Amino acid sequence: MATPSTGPSSGPSSGPARVVVLVSGAGTNLQALLDAAADPAYGATVVAVGADREGVEGLARAERAGVPAFVCPLKDFGSRQEWDAALTGAVAAHEPDVVVLAGFMKLVGAAFLDRFAGRVVNTHPALCPSFPGTSGPADALVYGVKVTGATLFVVDAGVDTGPIVAQVAVPVEEGDDVASLHERIKTAERSMLVDAVGRMAREGFVVEGRQVRFGTGRSIV
Ligand code: GRF
Repeated sequence: MATPSTGPSSGPSSGPARVVVLVSGAGTNLQALLDAAADPAYGATVVAVGADREGVEGLARAERAGVPAFVCPLKDFGSRQEWDAALTGAVAAHEPDVVVLAGFMKLVGAAFLDRFAGRVVNTHPALCPSFPGTSGPADALVYGVKVTGATLFVVDAGVDTGPIVAQVAVPVEEGDDVASLHERIKTAERSMLVDAVGRMAREGFVVEGRQVRFGTGRSIV
């Protein structure tokens, strides 16, 4: 990914930042963004929701909010590259300033990252660089950490390795199981996501190496 990359200044010169959200499941992070974006002062609007599978609650949330949705299942394509190209096209059709992977359980590929370089963020239920991958809360419990959390990062070619936009710490309580810990993380994660995406939209942001800074003076609001 080319750096430095500057966020939503590449979008329209006025109006809210255009956000496409990709989901695979419940979509509570998506819902938090939809709720925040109902206030024009938030500075971002969810212009489309994409999923890698049919029938998930995230798609129903999009429908209830009147937001266009699309589904791009990996199994419908002959190769991962073809799927990635199709996903890239489906997202690009909505001309996003920022793409938010919010519980999207697939790794996006090179074509996707080239097309939206520096403007794809992912929320992960652990404090990166700890516990990457699909079982962050479970891995934190097994390790026995007393504090875990959530991380919003700019997606690169690795697994949960990109430059960090925001993090929030969450205590591990005695007696936690994976579900209770993940629920506590998700409560904090939603607030972090809403806060960070709003700042990206209102203030602009720049990625320089591993550093992500808000306030590039290129706000699009
Ligand atoms: C979030 O904790 C996200 O970080 C993880 O899966 C969860 C998705 O939750 N990858 P939801 O679908 O937004 O409710």
